[in-house]
Amino acid sequence: MKKLGILLSGRGSNFEAIARAVEAGEIPAEIAIVVANRPNARGLARALEMGLQAECIPSKGLEREVYDRQVIERFEAAGVDLVCLAGYMRLLSAHFIDRYRGRILNIHPSLLPAFTGLEAQKQAFDYGVKFAGCTVHFVDEKLDHGPIIQQAVVPVLDTDDAHTLAERILAEEHRIYPESVRRVVEGKVRLEGRRVISEEPPK
Ligand code: GRF
Repeated sequence: MKKLGILLSGRGSNFEAIARAVEAGEIPAEIAIVVANRPNARGLARALEMGLQAECIPSKGLEREVYDRQVIERFEAAGVDLVCLAGYMRLLSAHFIDRYRGRILNIHPSLLPAFTGLEAQKQAFDYGVKFAGCTVHFVDEKLDHGPIIQQAVVPVLDTDDAHTLAERILAEEHRIYPESVRRVVEGKVRLEGRRVISEEPPK
């Protein structure tokens, strides 16, 4: 059974979507540990309510690698095989990425490579694109950059505002993130350069 390590900073709805899929037996893995870098993260409270091993390792004021070494220590103790970033608002150090190379996943609320960084949904809305969406990707040293595992497209409606658009994107995040985690856990993806080839066509 593969062991997942979750890193989050806030609401944690993507973490919950993964946890539900694990609970339902849709992902053949267990959530070994949830780490939040902010003590008031809602996702941390939810993880504890679910009876998962979860803790806060406060990052405030700590240099990136110093902090990441603390996380790695906890992840190693929990036997983590695959790291899932779920609304984790901190850049990872090269040291962390090296330790879990090819085994770190992230979800970003835009169709990458467009609109990297913060408030991607608002960036897309303000730019006036007609299609927005979300991306699950492997994490490498560059922000929102690693090989793309899955994307979902969300049309932007004339009646949308940045908030309604973000809500519809989030619903797609909750669908594709657990699915991507499952594919990776089951070894159903392989890399050809930057291209992630999936043995299963998207549903
Ligand atoms: C999501 O929009 C995700 O794409 C981005 O941060 C947000 C986290 O939301 N990386 P939640 O904490 O999973 O609810």
